[in-house]
Amino acid sequence: MSKMPVGVIGAGAIGKTHIDRALKHVDVELVGIADPVPQAEAFARSVGVPWFADYCQMLEVARPRGVMVATPNVTHARIATDCLERGVGVIVEKPIAHTVEDAQHICDISRSKDIPALVGHHRRYNPIVRHAKQIIDSGKLGRPVAATVLCTWRKPDEYFNVVWRREPGGGPILMNAIHDIDKIRHLFGEIESVQALVSNAVRRFVVEDTSAIICKFRNGAVGTMTVSDTCTAPWNWDLSAGEGELFPRQDADAYFLSGTEASITLPRLEIWEYRRGRGWHDPLTVERTALHKACPYAEQWRHFRALIEGLEPPVCSALDGLRTLEATLAVHAAAESGRSVRISN
Ligand SMILES: NC(=O)c1ccc[n+]([C@@H]2O[C@H](COP(=O)([O-])OP(=O)(O)OC[C@H]3O[C@@H](n4cnc5c(N)ncnc54)[C@H](O)[C@@H]3O)[C@@H](O)[C@H]2O)c1
Repeated sequence: MSKMPVGVIGAGAIGKTHIDRALKHVDVELVGIADPVPQAEAFARSVGVPWFADYCQMLEVARPRGVMVATPNVTHARIATDCLERGVGVIVEKPIAHTVEDAQHICDISRSKDIPALVGHHRRYNPIVRHAKQIIDSGKLGRPVAATVLCTWRKPDEYFNVVWRREPGGGPILMNAIHDIDKIRHLFGEIESVQALVSNAVRRFVVEDTSAIICKFRNGAVGTMTVSDTCTAPWNWDLSAGEGELFPRQDADAYFLSGTEASITLPRLEIWEYRRGRGWHDPLTVERTALHKACPYAEQWRHFRALIEGLEPPVCSALDGLRTLEATLAVHAAAESGRSVRISN
């Protein structure tokens, strides 16, 4: 079976990860890297892949069937649209776009041209998330009741030497909690409304360093999410799930999802339930599952090919990316207004 030709647009921090996984992949062949800066040209040469300053030229010359768009957020909509209009499928890094209107535009073009568009919420491909989703969808938890999500850890002070990370758009809600919001939508249900408080009391930047979020789900469940990049704590997906080599793995949970019949924690995958009796005087039983590790970025490439070939439905569609973006932007709107904000889509 021949490999599917793919390209990467944007060879920055995360683009290099996608390039690395594509180069090692059995399903895809990296036929071009597009990024105008000289470092990207040097990098493309070092990995032996044709380099293009202009992504449209890459589409014409290298002819990928699908591309990864790993450029700054404000460029996502323009680039994704250009690719889709030329019949090339896209994975757009998160957030799908800078605004909900731009995200809608990507959804519309993808639908009208019938060309697939995925959004890079890569955690959905983690075996831990897949296992938890199977358990929850099987009804094992009963009716969803309450979700507690923690996204708390400490970024090193040098991280903030880059100016945009201290400004609106660069805080932990849009940078990090967007992945948690996507995951909780994926696992627990569509979010109906959010309320939120934000604080910049520790770092004193314009953008928040800490936030407390309350969600109401359409299925009647409620949830809380605590987000902070300034506290010393392990309760965060990046630190606890073991996805990235740069983060020492902590044996801790970040998600506590409770239903009427059982609760599940992630990433440790503990399931708590009553096997005798059914109330607080009865013993609770806990079972923990350890899974094989797998790279979600590599699995995302595999799925992208299967999607383009019509073999699998999208794991994280453009519409999913839009809904996650809308819920994430609603957190800031709720914090600014002091009111509950309804999610319309
Ligand atoms: N899924 C994840 O785990 C994850 C992690 C980090 C970042 N991201 C997302 O990925 C995107 C990129 O983030 P980053 O941290 O890699 O940024 P970065 O600044 O390190 O890299 C962006 C690259 O895009 C290039 N670029 C800019 N405009 C371009 C254009 N028109 N055509 C081609 N290349 C262009 C830049 O030269 C740069 O090399 C962002 O949307 C970010 O939110 C996702």
